[in-house]
Amino acid sequence: MIKKAIFPVGGLGTRFLPATKALPKEMLPVVDKPLIQYAVEEAAAAGIEEFIFVTGRNKTAIEDHFDHSFELEETLFAKGKAAALETVRGMIHEPGTVAYVRQQEPAGLGHAVWCARHLIHDEPVAVLLADDLILGPSCLAEMVASYQGGNMVAVMDVPKSETGSYGIITPGADHGQLIEVSGLVEKPDPANAPSNIGVVGRYIIESGVFAQLGTQDRGAGNEVQLTDALARQIGKVPFHGFRFSGERFDCGSKIGFIQANIAFAMSRDDLAEPLASWIKNRMALS
Ligand code: G1P
Repeated sequence: MIKKAIFPVGGLGTRFLPATKALPKEMLPVVDKPLIQYAVEEAAAAGIEEFIFVTGRNKTAIEDHFDHSFELEETLFAKGKAAALETVRGMIHEPGTVAYVRQQEPAGLGHAVWCARHLIHDEPVAVLLADDLILGPSCLAEMVASYQGGNMVAVMDVPKSETGSYGIITPGADHGQLIEVSGLVEKPDPANAPSNIGVVGRYIIESGVFAQLGTQDRGAGNEVQLTDALARQIGKVPFHGFRFSGERFDCGSKIGFIQANIAFAMSRDDLAEPLASWIKNRMALS
């Protein structure tokens, strides 16, 4: 039912300079895989068949990442490195199912999503922010399975002191995993926050949101906010928050990125034991 996903990848990544001077932040690896690939795999696990990247200048590494690398594949083939070859070939999508749209100016998340409007018809579409990395079952697959029309955002409890970093919902009826959203505000101060339930970067949006984005009204940070467009649809279509079962890491922050690397490494058979024993020894020294 939901076949298309938008990946806004146009941000400048200023919080990770100098690493992100020439490298898109979405290409930063967690263990051995770039953030954007985790998001694409999560979307594929949710049944997504068309992948739309909203890119910006200096983002061509992302296009190259999801394309053939002729020299690499030839070399791996010639050397008989079958597993590595399988890894790089397995990332190639069916021709015509990956599209790139340029966002010419970083005018906000809402503006980025709006840039993909001509590739979307009258259909619900997923939006995934690669910065929010989720360990565990595909969050988007869980959302798709519970989707009942209208708009849906992944949510989690955040510390009250951090509401200024998130879209924050006003909760309506709480059905456990699904929670009705009766209000939504972008990055409120803790004193004004309607709750401590924050939006994580996974959305299913209906076409009315694109119409709202088309007004180009600026919100927090003088940017076109997806949050504001969603808020303006409240009362017109259903709107739900979804409490997902995985563990979310904020890879837009240094501490979150480091935690993600450790947690993802600890979830792997080849790395868990040597990493755990190194950390134990290291902690004993400090
Ligand atoms: C964006 C959204 C915000 C959401 C957050 C989740 O903010 O605007 O509503 O809570 O992603 O990570 P950003 O972190 O890109 O500033």
